[in-house]
Amino acid sequence: MKWQDGRRDGPAKCREKDLGRFEIYGRDGQARLGKLHTAHGVLETPCLLPVINPNIRTIEPREMWDKYGIQALITNSYVIWKHENLKEEALKEGVHSLIDFPGVIMTDSGTFQSYVYGDVEVGVEEIVQFQKDIGVDIATMLDIFTRPDMTFAQVEKAVDETIRRSDISIKTANETMLNGPIQGGLFPELRSKSARGMGALDFSIHPIGGIVPIMEQQKYRDLAKIMLACKSNLPPNKPVHMFGCGHPMLFPMLVAMGADLFDSAAYVLFARDGRLLMPWGTEKISNIEEWPIIMPAIANITPAEVRAMKKQERTVILSKYNLEITLQEMSRCRQAIRDGTIWRLAERRSHQHPALREAFLWLVTNPARSSMEPIIMDEVSAAKEIGTERGKWEENWDWLVNAQTTPRNGSESWGGQDTHHRPHIEMARKRLFSRWKSRKSGDVVIFHGASAPWRERIGELVDRIWSTDFELFVQTPLGLVPWGLEDLNPWAHIEGPDWLWKRKPNFAAIQRELGMFGIHNRRIIPVDISDTEELHSRVFKQLGIEPKERTPIEKLQAQVVDKLCVLCNVDQDDAIGICEDATFVMSRTGRIRNVIDASESHLFSPRLAEGGISLTVDGARVLHALRKVPAPIGFNSADKSLYPGNGPAWVIIDDDAEPFVREGRNVMHGFILACDSWIRPDESVLIVNSSGELVAIGRSQATSGEMESFTKGIAVKVREGCP
Ligand code: GUN
Repeated sequence: MKWQDGRRDGPAKCREKDLGRFEIYGRDGQARLGKLHTAHGVLETPCLLPVINPNIRTIEPREMWDKYGIQALITNSYVIWKHENLKEEALKEGVHSLIDFPGVIMTDSGTFQSYVYGDVEVGVEEIVQFQKDIGVDIATMLDIFTRPDMTFAQVEKAVDETIRRSDISIKTANETMLNGPIQGGLFPELRSKSARGMGALDFSIHPIGGIVPIMEQQKYRDLAKIMLACKSNLPPNKPVHMFGCGHPMLFPMLVAMGADLFDSAAYVLFARDGRLLMPWGTEKISNIEEWPIIMPAIANITPAEVRAMKKQERTVILSKYNLEITLQEMSRCRQAIRDGTIWRLAERRSHQHPALREAFLWLVTNPARSSMEPIIMDEVSAAKEIGTERGKWEENWDWLVNAQTTPRNGSESWGGQDTHHRPHIEMARKRLFSRWKSRKSGDVVIFHGASAPWRERIGELVDRIWSTDFELFVQTPLGLVPWGLEDLNPWAHIEGPDWLWKRKPNFAAIQRELGMFGIHNRRIIPVDISDTEELHSRVFKQLGIEPKERTPIEKLQAQVVDKLCVLCNVDQDDAIGICEDATFVMSRTGRIRNVIDASESHLFSPRLAEGGISLTVDGARVLHALRKVPAPIGFNSADKSLYPGNGPAWVIIDDDAEPFVREGRNVMHGFILACDSWIRPDESVLIVNSSGELVAIGRSQATSGEMESFTKGIAVKVREGCP
């Protein structure tokens, strides 16, 4: 195949200055929707790069491009280099022509061959130069494969040697994008060392290497550990590739932990043995009468007819089927990121395969903090008993939790005890425990026995007891929530069986929860609200009080105070001060629409759908003026504290960006000089200039580490600029 200038009908090259850059345009925790800018188009991630053997093309790369919309594939430069005819054509016409593929071509370096056959005869510099010469989009250095049976000392030597080889590889690759693989075998310490060492160098992508035998042996728990150890130590602006990972059942868990690229020959290798790749595991064609999932490749043919085919024909049809299923699961992962449900997809998949379940249970029991579980239940307790690594992984787990956001639309669907371990639930609880403070010193009333919306059931009752000294909480399946936040997600929108709300209060669990709120040694009064018959008189009697005057204004103020504290990180005394003089515009259903100050300025608007609160520019000015700590210098991304009471995080932008942001344009990565370390994705932030003056308000899209390292993409979605 002869191509003019090395491409035919190919995608447009990215902009020159963007070459090699990675940007995130959507996220769900650490899972991200990204764009990788290459010389053969902008690659949307997460995605799968099918492996093409240049000698045996079971599915034509052209067909992958034309029919399946595959934007990128991977082939092996060592195989091309070794075969004289391939080498000659590749050097003459380029790899895109050799393979007949107009999209992104990544090549591997021969490391895997050295793992399989013992050694390769190509040099470190030579193989990178060759990849460059044949015009690949993404080359791979010759790393040292670390096998799971290697000793610590052997693996450390391989990690060090791979780091040592990086310099010359990067220099040789020059403008060509280069993969810097992370090795480390089964040793988390060495995975972290490799990630930090390789991450400090100028690679474009970091594949996680040495995992093929681990996946072959279905040691998915080890895979989860490797992923956590690597990802939490790698720079966030580099995409992460899972070398040799193409079984769709692994995608949701790995994507949820931040994997961006996958490659695999599994679709062909499994097809050759009559095995079908399913999102829940592997099926054998010899065992089935019906297709588990209907896909175009097999839509008009039965399993029996495929079994009767000649081997070559059967392999082609099953390879296509496997590829279609694999691509479908990848699409499902991308959609789950958009929907904010990637962890839930991983959780669901974990129930479909025992080895995956083991990995998932390790994740949610070993690294996760026990203090974040509202109620301990059976399966999890059992997993915990055999877990021996509690505490050791806390930092890595923090990395996962700190990037979590609470989905703004949709409900929290109950998934059994796993629900408590969803990282976004842990983040929501962490935020609540650290930022909410009790304002009353009396007994604690726990309303239980009914689902949300609680205000409809007991709003009036609460009005009548608000002026007392009782502290009011609602018991939810995700733990206690203070009354002031009764409409806040995730607590207020849980979709699950009725019995979830009917459970009797567990005093030990409640006491533990109250301790997390800083409430100790108070009498706990459980109030059953499942039956509304004579509820008011029953409750007054139970609490030993006379009905009080209705006190809605104080209750409304308290709601806004709680939201400002928990969602905008405002100091409680400041929030009280703001609300003392405020008036409220109410909705027809009796909920606060707008908060107005004494000079008639509109400061905040509670969001009725999910219980959040939005700032106006005037509200932001008030919060900006209340700041007591100095402006941030740099990024301090290692500092994971939420710094309760310090106010909404500041993002300091550079002078060039200021006029655009004042006009309401988004803050782009690369124009940020500093930000507060307590910034979290989806939180309200104040955008200021280098003199600390308020420029705009917006919603952060990133963590501080991401603000520090990304150079492309939106960092803060601006809600309103300050003219
Ligand atoms: N393919 C599968 N695993 C690996 C690995 O560890 N390194 C390289 N370069 N390629 C691989």
